[in-house]
Amino acid sequence: MRPLIFLGAAGLAAGSPAAAPQVVNFDIINAAPDPSITGPPLFIGTQTGVYNATAAVASATAAVIGVATAAANAAERRDLEERTFCFLGWGPACSKNYGNPVISAPARPTSTPCTTTTTTTSRPVTTSGPVVTTAPPTTSNGVPSTCTPVSWTNTFVFTSDQACPTPYEIGTFCGFVGTPSVPPYINPEDPCAPQPDGFGPKTTPDTADAFEKNEVYHRMAQSAGSPKGYTQTFKDLNAAVNANSYMGLYTLQSYDVQTCADKCDSTDLCTAFNLYIERDPEWNPERCSCTGEDVSSIANYKCTLWGSGVQPGAAVNFGQTRDGFDVVITGSNGYEKTNTTTPATPSGWTKPQQCLGAHDHPKTCIGEKMFKGVFDVNVCATYAAAQNSANVNSGFFSKFMSAFGYNPSKCIFFNAFMLTEDGVAKGTYCKLFAQQYDASFGTQVPGWNNGHFYGVESSWSYCSA
Ligand SMILES: *[C@@H]1O[C@H](CO)[C@@H](O)[C@H](O)[C@H]1NC(C)=O
Ligand SMILES: *[C@@H]1O[C@H](CO)[C@@H](O)[C@H](O)[C@H]1NC(C)=O
Repeated sequence: MRPLIFLGAAGLAAGSPAAAPQVVNFDIINAAPDPSITGPPLFIGTQTGVYNATAAVASATAAVIGVATAAANAAERRDLEERTFCFLGWGPACSKNYGNPVISAPARPTSTPCTTTTTTTSRPVTTSGPVVTTAPPTTSNGVPSTCTPVSWTNTFVFTSDQACPTPYEIGTFCGFVGTPSVPPYINPEDPCAPQPDGFGPKTTPDTADAFEKNEVYHRMAQSAGSPKGYTQTFKDLNAAVNANSYMGLYTLQSYDVQTCADKCDSTDLCTAFNLYIERDPEWNPERCSCTGEDVSSIANYKCTLWGSGVQPGAAVNFGQTRDGFDVVITGSNGYEKTNTTTPATPSGWTKPQQCLGAHDHPKTCIGEKMFKGVFDVNVCATYAAAQNSANVNSGFFSKFMSAFGYNPSKCIFFNAFMLTEDGVAKGTYCKLFAQQYDASFGTQVPGWNNGHFYGVESSWSYCSA
């Protein structure tokens, strides 16, 4: 029976013009809203609760704006795909890749000029140089009395919030509290205000260049091992990760990969972290009589969390200038556990299957959407449920249901994957199907488009329960 079915499928493919395969829809990707934050902001040492799973699920429901159905009719589907993967079990013999031959990623077009596709991975790291780091760590409360705010009146009033241990200035938020750790509480955004943390050894001479070359920092990064369960993806870069999948920030008291891993492990959907040393100003040079050039530096151990992998291509934050003060980054290490993380199976779905790439079956596809942010299979499950209920409400279920139970308007299988652009996580891409497939068919890679390479990171499929 199986060979006959394959012959039939081959015959059909040969008889119809080959449509250009499109694993993902770039119009949909471009139209998807960007997340509000893609990396840690200035001024704060700790940031949690960045990803709001409830809001993400709500946006998946809102994304369904009408009825959607698959192109294959019941007869086509019956002839070619009598048996479904979820019905019979796990073997590849149970599924048919109807309507779409297995292809690999399209080759990069030779006409694409190389210059438009170059991505920076890091500034060259130089570890030589006469750098001394003998000064002990200091906490940042030694602002010189000669440094005073310029043309600035603090009009903030303080307020309290249950979530905050102490009052904070209106116009700021909880994260500002506790800097310095004793009253009066100063908002680090105020001119000349002390900046948080600074637990790393200082660099002498106090320049950005010396900081980047500081061998003490490089040794910390080079000698850090991989915490259990994580794979190291890059080591000792002079740039930190910036991506749509940002989940939070902790400032640590030492270059401690295990503590950073523990923070990731205790954060739902976190699958990677980036630990680095950042040169920050000891006090805020903005609107301060002492400008950036006068400000001494502190060294912060920053641990950022990511709801995706962290490939070297995502290390694109080389720092910035803050009113003449050079913020730079060094000793940046990346670790991820995407390959060994099994997402929690969304309720209403079953039989999770990890795929090497994406599923692409145009004839049985009901719809696809992109949700920029962390990898969250729940978003796709919610989108599928919302699409099914929109179709039910429009009466499409009963209208097209065949005697064999196939319904081109009912999603019974979905594929959720993390789409990457030039190695940087973009967000969760969802594809809904009226047919169930084995994981061995989920191998497609979008490949090159418009000078960028689109890849598939974590990819999972689910059958309706
Ligand atoms: C998360 O989003 C929901 C829905 O938009 C909102 O009601 C809730 O307050 C948000 N939670 C947090 C912690 O921001
Ligand atoms: C994850 O698995 C993919 C596919 O086998 C592989 O190419 C990649 O290198 C793995 N990533 C890590 C960090 O091990």
